[in-house]
Amino acid sequence: MNTQPELNVLVSRRGIAAVVKKLAEEIRRDYADRNPLLVGVLKGSFVFLADLVRAVDIPLQVDFVKLTSYGSGVQSSGLVTVLLDLNCSLEGRHVLVVEDIVDTGLTSSFLCDYLSRKGPASLRLCSFASKPSRRRVGIRIDYLGLEVPDKFVVGYGLDCAEKYRHLPDLCILKE
Ligand code: IMP
Ligand code: MG
Repeated sequence: MNTQPELNVLVSRRGIAAVVKKLAEEIRRDYADRNPLLVGVLKGSFVFLADLVRAVDIPLQVDFVKLTSYGSGVQSSGLVTVLLDLNCSLEGRHVLVVEDIVDTGLTSSFLCDYLSRKGPASLRLCSFASKPSRRRVGIRIDYLGLEVPDKFVVGYGLDCAEKYRHLPDLCILKE
């Protein structure tokens, strides 16, 4: 039960589990014999990635990147820098980027360009959520959990100034 008055549950933990199960089935089907490298984008994707790898249940590896986007307040500027880089080679690997949410698309677009220059055999994008109405660059999400309205959402790994990441439901933060 969510008792925080500033939050409205958008997708319950049961709804989230169904979304993760559906995505995991698609990923298992496509990557069963490919030993993929799942690249989680810190910090937001850590809860989703943890659920996803256990549900996919095929041989795979996990690594992380941390990015930062400088801009005015909540508006992304598109100026993305790598704060924490991968530890392993991408040469010949089947790479699946795992994001929490694609909003303007600037972060994922930067990251996919950046990783594609490291010689992967394939590169795809999986995102738990997407806000299509906010998109500023065209980006294909190969595995998408759900679309959300143009509201700030928190929980299930997503934060507002580092709060709410631990919530098991995806919630809309009231203005
Ligand atoms: P972009 O605008 O697609 O570059 O999104 C950059 C990042 O902003 C995402 O990976 C999230 O970490 C964060 N973000 C965007 N929208 C939300 C939201 O509604 N709640 C929490 N984080 C968000
Ligand atoms: Mg993120």
